[in-house]
Parts: sequence; C-alpha cells; structure tokens
Amino acid sequence: MMMEKIYSEWMGETQRKKISHILTKVDVKGKVLDIGAGPGFLEEFIDAIAVDIDLENLKKAKGKKILADGNNLPFKNDSFDTIFCIDTIHLIDNIENIEDLLKKDGRLIVTLFCNEYNFKDRIDYLKGLFSLDIEKEFTVRTEKEWDAVIVFKK
Ligand SMILES: C[S@@+](CC[C@H](N)C(=O)[O-])C[C@H]1O[C@@H](n2cnc3c(N)ncnc32)[C@H](O)[C@@H]1O
Repeated sequence: MMMEKIYSEWMGETQRKKISHILTKVDVKGKVLDIGAGPGFLEEFIDAIAVDIDLENLKKAKGKKILADGNNLPFKNDSFDTIFCIDTIHLIDNIENIEDLLKKDGRLIVTLFCNEYNFKDRIDYLKGLFSLDIEKEFTVRTEKEWDAVIVFKK
C-alpha cells in the first residue's frame, strides 16, 4: 500500500509536468477523448471524456468517465475533435478504431514514455502507427522521464 502510494505520487508529479508541457504545444478544441486516462491527470487541466479499463483508477478522474476497452470504444465514427492517448498506445492493438473516431481536421495526440537513448526510436514507432498527417513531433523532458509526442491531423 505504501509502495503504491509512493508510486502514484511519483507518477502523478511526472505525468502532470509532461501533460502541462504538451498542452502548451497543442491547440485543444471541441469534444475531447482521453484513451487510457488512468486516474485522470489530463482531466486536472482540461475537460475530456476519460476512458480506461481500470475502474478503481478511473473513479479518481474528474468529469465524464467511461469504463471501456481502447480496442473497442463505444463511440460513433467522427465523434471527437481531439483525442489523447498518453503513454497507453502500446497497450492497444486495434488502433484503426481510434483513427475512425476522429472528426475531419481533428487532432490525435499520442505519447510514449522514453529516455535520452531511445526517444528517436519511439518517435519513429509512433509516426508509423497511423495513416494520418503528422502535424508536430517533439519530446517532453522531465528529470525522471521523457515522452515522445506526435500530433496527428485527420
Ligand atoms: C501508463 S498508464 C497512463 C495513464 C494516463 N494516461 C497518464 O497519463 O498517466 C496506462 C493506462 O492505460 C490503461 N489501459 C491499459 N490497457 C487499456 C485498454 N485496452 N483500454 C483502455 N485503457 C487501457 C491502464 O489501465 C492505465 O491506466
């Protein structure tokens, strides 16, 4: 329990730093979906529909939340203007589904944790996942962990 608390505080501090930095670089518009929201660090900054398969964690997220599998999301195609998938895409197989949920001109922001040694590989991996236009790519660097970030546009 103590280890869980320490881990959650460590992760929270790092995720908040990464997310606040990402939000300075991304123009978030309209209806927003957060796939693999965890305890809702993104929702501390913006309104989004939080989706995760872990109910206990998801309960902590602010705002609207839905217990659902990122492989089979319960939304119609062309439903969202902005979709985030923060440090979760490696856990999802059916990524075509995510692309379909995005409206035309919508943005998909996908991130994956990395470090100074593997960030280029992680950027290339993320870029190859979707057949959408790439609007931006960058890394977010905290003392504890980096994130590779790609902003796709439909
Ligand atoms: C590394 S955590 C990232 C959490 C959050 N996005 C953040 O920034 O802290 C990965 C999250 O993905 C969730 N997850 C794993 N497989 C999933 C799936 N198939 N569909 C939806 N969420 C999933 C986990 O429960 C966990 O909350």
